[in-house]
Amino acid sequence: MISRRQFIKSTAVAGLAIGLNGKCTSEKNAIPSLPSEGDPQFWSALRAQFPMPPGEAYCNTGTIGAPPTRVLNRMIDHMRKHAVEIAHCDWSDGGIDLLSGYFPYVELREKIGRLINAHYKEIVLTQNATMGMNFLANGLDLPEGAEVITTDKEHSGGRSGWQLRAKRYGTTWRQVPISVPVEDPEQIIDAFKQAIGPKTRVLSLPHITSGTGTILPVKEICRHAAEKGLFTIVDGAQAVGHIPVDVKDIGCDAYYASPHKWLLAPAGSGLLYIREELIDAVWTTLASGQWDNHEDNGFRLTQRGTGNAALLAGLEEALDFHFEVGPDRIHRRIKRLGDSFREGLVAIPKTSILTSLHSEMSSGLTTFNVAEMDGKALQDTLWEKGRLQPRSQGARGVRFSTHIYNSPAEIDKALAIVADLAQRI
Ligand SMILES: Cc1ncc(COP(=O)(O)O)c(C=O)c1O
Repeated sequence: MISRRQFIKSTAVAGLAIGLNGKCTSEKNAIPSLPSEGDPQFWSALRAQFPMPPGEAYCNTGTIGAPPTRVLNRMIDHMRKHAVEIAHCDWSDGGIDLLSGYFPYVELREKIGRLINAHYKEIVLTQNATMGMNFLANGLDLPEGAEVITTDKEHSGGRSGWQLRAKRYGTTWRQVPISVPVEDPEQIIDAFKQAIGPKTRVLSLPHITSGTGTILPVKEICRHAAEKGLFTIVDGAQAVGHIPVDVKDIGCDAYYASPHKWLLAPAGSGLLYIREELIDAVWTTLASGQWDNHEDNGFRLTQRGTGNAALLAGLEEALDFHFEVGPDRIHRRIKRLGDSFREGLVAIPKTSILTSLHSEMSSGLTTFNVAEMDGKALQDTLWEKGRLQPRSQGARGVRFSTHIYNSPAEIDKALAIVADLAQRI
């Protein structure tokens, strides 16, 4: 019989796994040890750690990340092992971790805590950013007539929970306008300062806006809000795994994210942080046996019944990969590629860039257009001519993401296609 702890260990240290191509691949020691990140060989060796065929450039991490092969293998191994050995499982002590939603996953939550600088008891496992946001909109006690302030650039996953609450309970919500493009962080800080009124109780804003990839000055806004005694929530769906995130430094009360984007975790991975002093007061939306466990509030809010534990194994593998490559190195690479793409676009006539060109307000996302093309047509042209896959933003053009699996050569190729379009249209 396999106990829960033995099962977790045996899947975590499996040295060999069957790769996509059917060959045995080593799950560990995957990070190439080359002299420096400035060496292009380092990045091409790292690119080989992804199952995407060479010659295809994935430029849509803003929607969902491309998981490394070892993340994929870890999930597949986990599911296969469960399917093969299911009759050997000892359920007498509550079962192995295969039920996912019933166990505290302390080690995993500690790793997430290490990533964003929080204690594991402040970390809730969710399925995505949308779930984190809804847990907050549903779970906070607010006085009658309370006002929630968001921006007018929220993703529906950052906004709809507040709209629901407004319709159901009469909480009001207001949207602070964010200009496009933003020229200066002060613009945004001032807009929030002006928007806060006597009834405001909550600020809820994105760390990086979904549509244009603009990094908002969340630290300054949270500091100001804290002076006014407001509850501050940051939507980090586009930030975790992309730019450095330190929730204590930001000073927010809650932070939620979708590690299946920039952290390259499997789809269906989510995290929610709530500050230790405040988490006790947040009601759980999904109640199961731990619903009133105020000893480990993160577990109380995590518990959600049976799920797929292979996803959590994949999330853990993605965290290990991220730490091994190095969060700072990843951010520098993403930012350098994004900056060089924007610099190239600025020099091409007929292009418009909706992402902020302020160096502190942009990184791996660039929303742009050329000669007011339809976004789908621009997306299709980039694919047909260069095997580059960004995401259409309709009339606003396309959103182009750069991650560690992208290269300077892909940036050059995209710029050449855009320059050619600008000439011909
Ligand atoms: C800023 C922002 N918030 C929330 C979401 C919703 O993410 P998910 O679908 O993973 O819940 C997204 C998705 O793109 C986003 O960009």
